[in-house]
Amino acid sequence: MNITSAADGIYRLSANAEDILFEGLWPIPNGVSMNSYIVQGEKTAIIDGVCGWDGVPQTLFSQFEQAGIDVNSIDYVVINHMEPDHSGWLEDFRKIRPDFTIVTSKKAVPMLESFYGIHNRVIEVGDGDSLDLGAGRVLAFAEIPNVHWPETIATFDTLSGTLFSCDAFGSFGAISDAPYDDQLSAEQIEFFEAEAVRYYANIVAAFSTPVKKAIEKCGTLPIRIVAPGHGIVWRRDPHKIINDYRRYAEYQKGPARDEVTLIWGSMYGMTEKAVGPAVEAMEAEGVKVHVHRVPESSWGDILASVWTSTGVVLAMPTYEYKMFPPMAAVLDELGKKRVQNRKAFRFGSYGWSGGAQKELDEIMERLKMKWEFLEPLEFKGSPDEDHLTEIRSRCRELAREVKKIAAASPV
Ligand SMILES: Cc1cc2nc3c(=O)[nH]c(=O)nc-3n(C[C@H](O)[C@H](O)[C@H](O)COP(=O)(O)O)c2cc1C
Ligand SMILES: [Fe+2]
Ligand SMILES: [Fe+2]
Repeated sequence: MNITSAADGIYRLSANAEDILFEGLWPIPNGVSMNSYIVQGEKTAIIDGVCGWDGVPQTLFSQFEQAGIDVNSIDYVVINHMEPDHSGWLEDFRKIRPDFTIVTSKKAVPMLESFYGIHNRVIEVGDGDSLDLGAGRVLAFAEIPNVHWPETIATFDTLSGTLFSCDAFGSFGAISDAPYDDQLSAEQIEFFEAEAVRYYANIVAAFSTPVKKAIEKCGTLPIRIVAPGHGIVWRRDPHKIINDYRRYAEYQKGPARDEVTLIWGSMYGMTEKAVGPAVEAMEAEGVKVHVHRVPESSWGDILASVWTSTGVVLAMPTYEYKMFPPMAAVLDELGKKRVQNRKAFRFGSYGWSGGAQKELDEIMERLKMKWEFLEPLEFKGSPDEDHLTEIRSRCRELAREVKKIAAASPV
């Protein structure tokens, strides 16, 4: 990855992280890029340093050299967000250049102390504050709390109209040497859209209300470039990713797209017998169906599918008087991300007593998910033809409902 110029006096440095679990938890099959930006006036600032993951700071330091930028010329490090994927290199950087000044929010100050023992040469900034780098370059700051942590700010370069948004407007996906939307084909943009959905659903989803507030606040700025901490830089159409994020935030409480996610699990294939017919029935109604098996599919993928789906079908058997455990775990995660108001249907097999349905009802109640279910269908052992006919019929009904709702409120 090479250093590139995002605008006059603004450089993007980037390193890809692959073969890790993001936040120690989320699989990133296509990797993720970690971006920093150098902004030059008479003074020089670097915005969104990056993590201390193996090799990442070293990759960035070599990019300074590539652009002929002396590390010792950095006056300010702007920390928009203290999560170590962006702040983790401060200790390494201090070894090379001990006397830079950190510019960050008030709430980040105690975090600097507790994460890295840093308490001097720190300037606190918040709404309405700015930093003059000279040569007409002024950085303005806006607090965007809880996108993704409480201390988060965004930085706006008033000269170029660049919004350095850190986690907001970010996406997964490693990036080759074409990091700008104006360099990418329609298919490549589509790839990053899908990566943005998964990033949003996995990392930002729980903070959808703060995301909406941040968009409102940043909407007052004359934005010409969106330069996030992860993913591509939006230069040809900066409002596309902002509008996409606005939609993703709306998906939390539904309705979302005219799509259904079917999540299924089965021990001995009894529940599985009805999965194919259910999928066919919904596809026959013309809705897109995402199918995931638990525990095989990753939570990250399931969450991304459910996030964009107005309908959800759950298929699982009873296990020790409760629900097939990996399904309960996934539903718990969906509840914590506050995926609400889905149209849903559940079917599954049991041996003698059942119990899966009771736990499903409990989870929905406890996590206040407000999913509206069609009448569930349970069968003892193998489903017979009548069961399959009924499952097909309810799945068609669900698909029709999903299409109707999504058409009435297109997002
Ligand atoms: C470990 C285990 C625990 C089970 N616990 C229950 C139970 O508590 N109540 C019940 O009705 N059936 C229980 N069953 C029976 C299954 O629900 C039944 O075999 C069902 O057909 C399995 O569907 P599947 O092949 O889709 O997994 C249990 C089965 C297994 C293997
Ligand atoms: Fe973050
Ligand atoms: Fe991040």
